[in-house]
Amino acid sequence: MMQKGLLNVKKIRKDFPILKRQLDSGKPLIYLDNAATTQKPLAVINAIHDYYMNYNSNIHRAVHQLAEEATAAYESTRQKVAKFINARSTDEIVFTRNTTEAINLVAYAWGRANIGKGDKIVITEIEHHSNIVPWQILTQEKGAKLEYIGVDDSGYLKMDQYQKHLDSKKVKLVSVSQMSNVLGTITPVNDIIKMSHERGIPVLIDGAQSVPHMPVDVQKMDCDFLAFSAHKMLGPTGVGILYVKREILENMPPFIGGGDMIKEVHKYETRYNDLPYKFEGGTPNIADVIGFAAAIDYLNNIGMDRVRDHEIDITRYALDRIGGVKGVTIYGPPNPMDRGGVVSFNIGDIHPHDLATIMNDHGIAIRSGHHCAQVLMERLDVAATSRASFYIYNTKEEVDALIGALDEARRLFKI
Ligand code: ALA
Repeated sequence: MMQKGLLNVKKIRKDFPILKRQLDSGKPLIYLDNAATTQKPLAVINAIHDYYMNYNSNIHRAVHQLAEEATAAYESTRQKVAKFINARSTDEIVFTRNTTEAINLVAYAWGRANIGKGDKIVITEIEHHSNIVPWQILTQEKGAKLEYIGVDDSGYLKMDQYQKHLDSKKVKLVSVSQMSNVLGTITPVNDIIKMSHERGIPVLIDGAQSVPHMPVDVQKMDCDFLAFSAHKMLGPTGVGILYVKREILENMPPFIGGGDMIKEVHKYETRYNDLPYKFEGGTPNIADVIGFAAAIDYLNNIGMDRVRDHEIDITRYALDRIGGVKGVTIYGPPNPMDRGGVVSFNIGDIHPHDLATIMNDHGIAIRSGHHCAQVLMERLDVAATSRASFYIYNTKEEVDALIGALDEARRLFKI
């Protein structure tokens, strides 16, 4: 039964064993690095444990009981994923290792068949490296061009630039993050997709940061591809998800060749398996896919609207409190309604790695560096930022502790 109202964070925290951890500093853990990976509830840990303890087996191959149990559990995760993002069918859900592999799958399989000399692929300046490098490789190989939609000083996309790219009539694919892992910006994907579809151009949405934090409906959004990762939404590492509209997937050549993705192999030719198995060559990450089902159940039980509301609330508080620290620069949209639970900032000329080290002395885990978004760092004209990112188990008291530690760092560096 889905719950209602504000999250009972105190109760939620009890489901995450790691949140009880004392660190070497003697401080309790304050985990604010959720954009990198989230912590796992006991239900997920137990589901993986149960698989290895009781029905470890390969899937889709044997007829013995363990194989049938493992196959059923693995495929039941696919059903849950399809429902979670409102895909039309499980045929449209491909399991990969992570978001990066999902985007590379599109670049290699769809891209090699559909991108040619002189074509353009449009991405944005806020993209993670995983939504830049595969397109650089593809465009360089094909003699195609990579174009960017710029970002303004408040972290919003410059949609007039997008319009200009579309007007060039050379665009063959648009690939955009729905939520920046640095700025938190929630991008106008509905407009982007509509404008692109009016010209018959498919759109890939990088949902690595959005799917874990807000309701995402692929049919409403009408995206052609959606990539995201289990580990950023309470699930295990090593599981990525690629949604592809069936009519596109049906015409895509395979990516990884080998076992499980075939129906028949002869000396010089192969008949490929049905969708989506054609795109899942080799033994997959069975245990972690099974564990991921428990993460989806956990989030469904809370409700994604409530996840989003909690993050708006904590992000509004964090923007306000961090914004009050002397010498601070916060990056991204000032309005918490326009961003996810990610706050990137710098304080004076304290290097983000020094700041993160001081935070660590206080038991506070934040990320510092370029966040795999060096194109954006160049645009912001910084080498790095510090980043606090939130999830369902974070509290305003934890934000207060961060502020206390930031103030101490500031005093130490005489800012
Ligand atoms: N993409 C992850 C992050 O932003 C790893 O930290």
